[in-house]
Amino acid sequence: MKRLEGKRALITGAARGIGLAYARRYVAEGARVAIGDIDLARARDAAAEIGDQAIAVEMDVSNQDSIDRAVAETVDRLGRIDILINNAAIFTAAPITEIDRDDFNRVFGINVAGTLFTLQAVARHMIDKGIRGRIINMASQAGRRGEPLVAVYCASKAAVISLTQSAALNLIPHGINVNAIAPGVVDGEHWDGVDAFFAKYENKAPGQKKQEVGQAVPFGRMGTAEDLTGMAVFLASDDAEYIVAQTYNVDGGNWMN
Ligand SMILES: NC(=O)c1ccc[n+]([C@@H]2O[C@H](COP(=O)([O-])OP(=O)(O)OC[C@H]3O[C@@H](n4cnc5c(N)ncnc54)[C@H](O)[C@@H]3O)[C@@H](O)[C@H]2O)c1
Repeated sequence: MKRLEGKRALITGAARGIGLAYARRYVAEGARVAIGDIDLARARDAAAEIGDQAIAVEMDVSNQDSIDRAVAETVDRLGRIDILINNAAIFTAAPITEIDRDDFNRVFGINVAGTLFTLQAVARHMIDKGIRGRIINMASQAGRRGEPLVAVYCASKAAVISLTQSAALNLIPHGINVNAIAPGVVDGEHWDGVDAFFAKYENKAPGQKKQEVGQAVPFGRMGTAEDLTGMAVFLASDDAEYIVAQTYNVDGGNWMN
């Protein structure tokens, strides 16, 4: 049985990586999906590959006009939004003494403000239309603890966990469930970028950090984008109706709490 039959979802940052895996799986589960991404060309390719049930929407989550336009376009083309996945984010790394204010503002503008104000825009739509919706934010194991070179990204993901709790408490009286997923280390283009930062700051060979983190996962390897999709379906499904304000680790055992 398809678990998201008839649902309409907006997934930010879904032109590649985990978001794209979510889009594919949601469509396989019967949903129609808007791929909201700053990279419109790649979002279009992704939608074309998925087929009729996916559309591409241009969206920069760090820009309020762009959020408003993307939400309006999604509602216009899909009819409504039942599920939002706040997935778009960027990574950065630097020693504390080298953190750059513009870089901090860029990361917080996308990872934190982007998550909050996309959530706000979609929650307003859901409340206005009486939709008992689902909102899933992408946190990270990085939001559970600091790391020496990753202060800004870690802080941004800790903020996502906190926003998930506050938004969930505020929106559950409207029948809107807000929860989050915290991946561990997931292979793909994102981690290619992470690996490059560690090559720079820890004098590692390209690919070395990836290999090390993969070996350190209790499950025995890095995650794949597909490893995350089961939780994203579950949290959007009827089975998760009583789940509110939680952040679930899907990380092969990397983090225990
Ligand atoms: N890959 C991992 O190991 C990992 C681990 C923990 C958490 N996460 C989180 O999971 C989510 C997805 O990660 P991923 O590995 O697929 O990342 P990714 O870098 O492969 O994909 C991110 C997508 O977001 C888009 N994007 C970037 N800035 C945007 C903006 N301003 N507006 C709209 N879209 C924008 C990019 O174009 C890209 O398509 C992120 O929130 C990330 O922080 C990833």
